[in-house]
Amino acid sequence: MVNAGIVLLPGDGVGPEVMAEAVKTLRAVEVRFGHRFETVDAKIGGAAIDAYGVPLRPEDIAACRASDAALLGAVGGPKWDDPGAKVRPEQGLLQIRRALGLYANLRPVAVLPGLEGASPLKPELVRGVDLLVVRELTGGIYFGRPSREWRERRGRAAVDTLVYREHEIVRVARLAFELARERRGKVASVDKANVLASSRLWRSVVGEVAREYPDVAVEHVLVDAMAMHLVRGPARFDVIVTENMFGDILTDEASVLAGSIGLLPSASLGAPRGDNGRRFGLYEPIHGSAPDIAGQGKANPAGMILSVAMLLRSSLGLDAEAAAVEAAVAAAIQAGVRTGDLGGAATTAAFGDAVAERLRP
Ligand code: NAD
Ligand code: IPM
Ligand code: MN
Repeated sequence: MVNAGIVLLPGDGVGPEVMAEAVKTLRAVEVRFGHRFETVDAKIGGAAIDAYGVPLRPEDIAACRASDAALLGAVGGPKWDDPGAKVRPEQGLLQIRRALGLYANLRPVAVLPGLEGASPLKPELVRGVDLLVVRELTGGIYFGRPSREWRERRGRAAVDTLVYREHEIVRVARLAFELARERRGKVASVDKANVLASSRLWRSVVGEVAREYPDVAVEHVLVDAMAMHLVRGPARFDVIVTENMFGDILTDEASVLAGSIGLLPSASLGAPRGDNGRRFGLYEPIHGSAPDIAGQGKANPAGMILSVAMLLRSSLGLDAEAAAVEAAVAAAIQAGVRTGDLGGAATTAAFGDAVAERLRP
């Protein structure tokens, strides 16, 4: 029996809707396997701005530090989108990732049985797709300074800074190679080395790290070409490692292979393993707050529920429990329980119920 503390950060838009199904899944896992998950709720994003004036409070970061893992729904929405606003929901997300040292965001992309026809791409093209995108999460243009707007004589100007330090590339590259060893032994590193200095450093450092892993095949792919390869022949890729912004963009694209952005989970890792053998991680679906469908019970909670599976495996070492959650999601989908994004009529809660039902002892 495991007793674990988990912080719940539902956030905005569909975030709370999919979070409710994640909690349902956790409770079902407790009953089936006899564990105890102590959950505490905290606000992030627009919800935190409305309640406290800031997108994330220091005490809520501290609560994450004191816990075994955190689950996050999504942040953002039209209410907080004014480009002139001083505080933005998305800052909360960047802060939590950075403050907790979560430098690697793992985004697996696979085609679930029965969903080969769900992608707008030809079924023969998506069949066999099994990717793991390792997105660098605490560096690059998201965090570089300066980042600001100013006025000049001829009008306004703005700058963002794309900076990478060697150690930031080394650690995420090593993780990608380690993960490739447990998979099909291939790493594709994505950059824009033909134009950007930061990408030339990225390519050099990844090449150096690759020498520590002679059993893993490495290739370097330019990001524009990768955007094309992902829709022309994605099945040949195994682990894809890339910098923060490229990883953000390419994984939304890759979600189309799986059938819907609502299906993809993620794990943000990097915090050191604790004395108890547990490792803190932040788990969230890759999608956003989906304002166009928020409040209607239409969101697909599968990406959020599969993030629970990643939490069980990566933070708590509960492999059988994680596999049971994944199997329950796959079985529900195969049984035809599908939300609107997958052409079905199931509500968010109905999908969560179908998963919980399949987790019953
Ligand atoms: P989005 O991912 O929220 O939505 C894109 C499209 O995908 C929409 O049509 C939406 O309805 C659909 N979609 C997303 N999740 C779905 C789900 N679970 N089930 C079914 N359909 C789903 O991206 P966006 O519209 O560009 O951004 C909306 C807001 O979300 C913005 O404020 C953005 O900053 C924020 N955002 C947050 C996160 C996060 O919290 N991790 C991620 C991406 C975007
Ligand atoms: C994601 C989101 C975030 C990102 C935003 C909301 C800050 O798009 O988690 O993919 O760009 O990392
Ligand atoms: Mn994104």
